[in-house]
Amino acid sequence: MIKLGLLLQKCYDIYVGNELKKEEKLTMNQATPTGTEHSHITNHRFFARIYERLSRGPTENSFMDPLRRETAGQARGVVLEVGPGNGLNFSFYDPAQVEHVEAAEPDTAMLRYARQRLETARVPINLVQAAAENLPFADATFDTVVATLVFCSVTDPARGLQEIRRVLKPGGTLYMVEHVRSPKPWAARIQDIITPLARRVSGNCHWNRDTARKVAEAGLHITSQRDLRGIFLPMVVLQATYQ
Ligand SMILES: C[S@@+](CC[C@H](N)C(=O)[O-])C[C@H]1O[C@@H](n2cnc3c(N)ncnc32)[C@H](O)[C@@H]1O
Repeated sequence: MIKLGLLLQKCYDIYVGNELKKEEKLTMNQATPTGTEHSHITNHRFFARIYERLSRGPTENSFMDPLRRETAGQARGVVLEVGPGNGLNFSFYDPAQVEHVEAAEPDTAMLRYARQRLETARVPINLVQAAAENLPFADATFDTVVATLVFCSVTDPARGLQEIRRVLKPGGTLYMVEHVRSPKPWAARIQDIITPLARRVSGNCHWNRDTARKVAEAGLHITSQRDLRGIFLPMVVLQATYQ
């Protein structure tokens, strides 16, 4: 049984590896962090397809819409969205407040859905294939950065948050919604156990990250934080800035 599992895992890794190589060839001419840096570019086709399907379900509207309003809906000026995925925040950007949005998404499969969802936007949005760890923008470019359900998946969250701090204008705001590590030790332990499987099947998603702590460690000052209870998927909604 274990051998069968390992064999299936190996087949999956070879399949994903081959797909990634194909996609890297295709994306060589697209905007990337340095033009040669591809280390964080992914192609999670299976996860993207499932995520898109779930996005059309009732949970998205009833649970996530208010949180998107509380984050993307508050953005103003020149905005960076990190990891927009299939573009569910796009319709929440307010044309009365937002000049334009740069949306940096590293995953090729997600980008396809995001491109389709551009038509829901009421503000100009430019999609760029790039990861949080290596943002292709000058220092102090953005008034607002938005990240929703992203930092559970970012490979190097500390570096990603340093990059956000670099591209944010002094006094600018980071709006974030993330599911995070449980404050209850026993639940956190179960999250630790689930995480390796969750990473495999849901695009590197870690159930056990203390993202608010990482935001503070990156030198950003948390100005508001709301904790949403949940046993295995508690969430945090926060705003942060720096001077
Ligand atoms: C669960 S989806 C969330 C998508 C969207 N933000 C939302 O609220 O529906 C996580 C997204 O984070 C992206 N992601 C993963 N690693 C990333 C990284 N290093 N930098 C930026 N985005 C990343 C994934 O490609 C995926 O699109």
